[in-house]
Amino acid sequence: MDNRFTAPGKIILFGEHAVVYGKPAIAIPVSGMRASAWSEPNEKGLTINALDLNEKFDLKNTSNQFSILAQTILSQNKQNEPNLTINLSSKLPQGSGMGSSAATATAVCKALSNHLGVDLDANQVSELVFNAEKIVHGTPSGIDNTVVAYEMPVYFIKGEKPVTFTPGRRFYLVIGDTGIEASTKETVSNVRKAWEKEPGLMEGYFSEIEIVTEKGKLAIEQGKTELIGEIMSKNHELLNSIGVGHKKLDELIDIANKAGAVGAKLTGGGGGGNMVALAKNIDDQQYIHDKITEAGYRAYQTSFGEQR
Ligand code: MEV
Repeated sequence: MDNRFTAPGKIILFGEHAVVYGKPAIAIPVSGMRASAWSEPNEKGLTINALDLNEKFDLKNTSNQFSILAQTILSQNKQNEPNLTINLSSKLPQGSGMGSSAATATAVCKALSNHLGVDLDANQVSELVFNAEKIVHGTPSGIDNTVVAYEMPVYFIKGEKPVTFTPGRRFYLVIGDTGIEASTKETVSNVRKAWEKEPGLMEGYFSEIEIVTEKGKLAIEQGKTELIGEIMSKNHELLNSIGVGHKKLDELIDIANKAGAVGAKLTGGGGGGNMVALAKNIDDQQYIHDKITEAGYRAYQTSFGEQR
């Protein structure tokens, strides 16, 4: 279908949560798992038909990011509401830390702007999705919409232009899903409460996460797999310290490490959702994947960087 518009999921490799407080974070797109939107004419205004949620959104409903996004695109371009259904479907599990919310909103943004004949670059798409997500998701840093819209590895600091960088080699990852749906809005808000209560302690953790992220970026650029693994494990400890861990995440990380991962951590909001493990090579990646699925969890394989 040529009016199908898609957007990838994402994985945060370093720096989640601290990024909300102005620290850097690193994220990569997961191009093999995508949200798709496609449109068809109707006779009664704009409807966004979220097939996986079994829910329909129209412009009157302003408590969801799709309607807010559509209203903004229409008003910025001085266009009337079209008679259009935008169907939406996603391979990304919701509440899993894989950017399902940003990916679905990005796919809808692309489908609607294409229908209206409005040309948007990656930065404009990212901004539109960010503004819609802010209303629904509290205080997001903007990293999810950025990595999803650009579909490139990014080094991101809130409010600054994202920096893309080149990994020193190809890296093989396994994503393991606890199956526990967790709300990023909720974990972000819990971290904020902890920060309000003990700002010194929490800022200490955020600064440690910042050091980890900077070291992680360098190790990725230099292609140092073992070192990246160590740094990921350190990042996970710090995420546990700020209170966004979950025993199922630790269980999955343990399975991955025993199966030969060089390191692993939770990814995204935490409190459930997904963990990501780094494998030494493509064979280990398959083995780690199999061990996680044998234990009864869903797992996905993804990679980033060029083969050298
Ligand atoms: C969610 O994918 C990442 C968090 O850092 C929240 C955010 O950056 O908006 C937990």
